[in-house]
Amino acid sequence: MTKKQLDESVDYLKKKGFDNPEIGIVLGTGLGQLVDEIQDPIEAHYNHIPYFPLATVEFHTGKLIYGTIAGKKVVVMQGRFHLYEGYDFLDITYPIRVMHQLGIKKLFVSNAAGAINLSYKKGDIMLIEDHINLQGGSPLAFKNVAEFGDRFADMSEPYDLDMRTKIEAIAQKEDISLQKGVYASVVGPQLETKAEYRMLKILGADAVGMSTVPEVIVANHLRLPILAVSVLTDECDPDNLQPVNIQEIIEIAGNTEPKMIQLFKELIKVI
Ligand code: HPA
Repeated sequence: MTKKQLDESVDYLKKKGFDNPEIGIVLGTGLGQLVDEIQDPIEAHYNHIPYFPLATVEFHTGKLIYGTIAGKKVVVMQGRFHLYEGYDFLDITYPIRVMHQLGIKKLFVSNAAGAINLSYKKGDIMLIEDHINLQGGSPLAFKNVAEFGDRFADMSEPYDLDMRTKIEAIAQKEDISLQKGVYASVVGPQLETKAEYRMLKILGADAVGMSTVPEVIVANHLRLPILAVSVLTDECDPDNLQPVNIQEIIEIAGNTEPKMIQLFKELIKVI
């Protein structure tokens, strides 16, 4: 990644009309309905944006959408890049740097995740308060990182406290139950074994998924305030583990998304 490449990606989008978005939003697996809320949308397909990684996984349509939600300019990533698709850490976080250079001041991230904390149920939404990186690498481990920010990024409070407080108040007011906890990221794409789920619980994880943490690390590197939520799609009970059903995971994510959209829309209004 070079500054010149970033400039070219950003120039392309600005020419298309991506004019000073305030908020960037990353939509996770099965979470695509938010795009229906975007007014006056302008779309850019990932494979048309210079230096963007190409989209692969079939349930991700792979585009960046600019427009207005709740009166604010947003840029939404419909579909994200995962390590398990064969991308590297720089690929999967490139869009975050592009959105930052486009001018976003805040980042919302969503994902589908498994519940390690068994008091949480499928269909619950969990506000991510902290994370554990189990992906075996970092999006900041590259030679010219100093051109883009600190070599040693601070991670003492990776998820913005102010937005967390606000979304909790909104959830209470709207009568939407919002769990809180620690998200552990793994590479995937295989799901975890019973022994691995036991390990994740011992480590202090409340949820596990295959994304989000690299984007959050880069956003912290860019000093971009982040709000992140997991939609819990399966319960990871090592003593009663059911075979994975990806169709069900996507269905539960889709059924839960309206609550997440409501929370995001209300939060957009007050930030
Ligand atoms: N493990 C990892 N990723 C996931 C899971 C899980 O149980 N559920 C949804 N994404």
